[in-house]
Amino acid sequence: MKMWSGRFRQPLDPEFERWQQSFSFDRRLLRYELSASGAHATALKNAGVLSADELISILQGLEQISQKAASSTAFLNDDEAEDVHHFVEKQLVALIGEVGYKLHSGRSRNEQIATDLRLYVRAAIDQLREELSELAGTFLDRAEQAGDSAVPAYTHLQRAEPALVSHWLLAYVEMFLRDADRLSDCRKRLNVCPLGSGAVAGATLPLDRSLMAEKLGFDGPTANSIDATSDRDFAIEFVQSLAILALHLSRWAEEMILFSSQQYEFIGLPEAYSTGSSAMPQKKNPDLLELVRGKSGRVLGQATALMVTVKGLPLAYNKDLQESQEPLFDSADTLLQMLPLVTGWMKSVEFHFEVMQQATQSGFMNAWAAATYLVKRGVPSRLAHERIGKAVQLCLERNCELHELTLDQLRSLSPAFGEDFYEALTLKSVLAVHDVPGGTAPNRVQQAIGAARKKLYSLREEVHAHA
Ligand code: ARG
Repeated sequence: MKMWSGRFRQPLDPEFERWQQSFSFDRRLLRYELSASGAHATALKNAGVLSADELISILQGLEQISQKAASSTAFLNDDEAEDVHHFVEKQLVALIGEVGYKLHSGRSRNEQIATDLRLYVRAAIDQLREELSELAGTFLDRAEQAGDSAVPAYTHLQRAEPALVSHWLLAYVEMFLRDADRLSDCRKRLNVCPLGSGAVAGATLPLDRSLMAEKLGFDGPTANSIDATSDRDFAIEFVQSLAILALHLSRWAEEMILFSSQQYEFIGLPEAYSTGSSAMPQKKNPDLLELVRGKSGRVLGQATALMVTVKGLPLAYNKDLQESQEPLFDSADTLLQMLPLVTGWMKSVEFHFEVMQQATQSGFMNAWAAATYLVKRGVPSRLAHERIGKAVQLCLERNCELHELTLDQLRSLSPAFGEDFYEALTLKSVLAVHDVPGGTAPNRVQQAIGAARKKLYSLREEVHAHA
């Protein structure tokens, strides 16, 4: 029996009927639909709509549906079910008889789908935060293992200054910790319960909304029934947060693709995550990285799709909102599959520390530190910059590096140069000069590793508290 057939004289066009159903994708909300229905049934009993026996029978029916779904996927093959809400009602009536129809008393599918989706996003956030903590932890381990190795840091994709490899990897740890934080923020805001909001104006029975919220682990009931049945902000925030995460992963992938190429050779691609070419026998291609970059486009697209779906909707529920589900599922699936693979890749990638270190030795990456040397000797910064620029010009003419200029050559540019200038040009000194919080001086990077470990520790604590 349909959930709404009474006022209709004609049957649905069969093609339209198939086309408008959402059970093919909202079946994955079944477990949330069942728990929300359990909470609603309890409130119905407290409101005097169900007897104690009826409540028991409904709760047992819901439990049986859950067991059947767990033991056979074929159970979910139901062409007649319009959506997951209809499916549960049909199955319940098949299992416990007409009393099953009492479950829908005083509620609407509009509040149900809003509730199911909040429960789904909350669970997805908890899983994603766990995966993010694994990923950030792996980056942090690799950062720590890199010791005092250095790598060129780039601006405009031109070699700019040397940095510790650990400092470079910590940049990604920061991004992933922010991503985890954004998801946690989204979780805080979504954790309120729409049950009892009815179709738009509120339930028609005196249901204990706080009790239903509590049973489902929400912080409390939503404040406004019109908002609660039409709001998809939580879904948008969630997918937007995933889009930013995907963006971070895409930038990372792009950098790794560059660094693994013959032009850089900073890293060796792990064979377990690469493939060859069917034509060129010598090739090892960065497939994982390319797919991470490629799939991030898909998540960015879903974020846009979701906003465009909601953009023109008057309050409150409109069927368009059914279209908000698939972008949500697809972006969560995409990242949940991707994150453990990226973690695995990162665990097995080979860093070519000597090549990186070698690359910091040429190309005047010590030029800013050289200018700082002059500044410390009282030369005004703009003039120091200009003098070192001249020194670089001299080197380019002679095809040498700054430390290969003689003191006389240097003194012809500025009397402020002394013997100790050469010491200021070494990699060690250049790194040490960035001695500010957040800088690449080894002591600062040590502090940063400690701070990141702390943040990661509290992330893990939070993840376990929600598990
Ligand atoms: N399948 C619907 C959705 O996903 C459930 C809500 C239906 N509500 C309605 N008034 N037709 O949005």
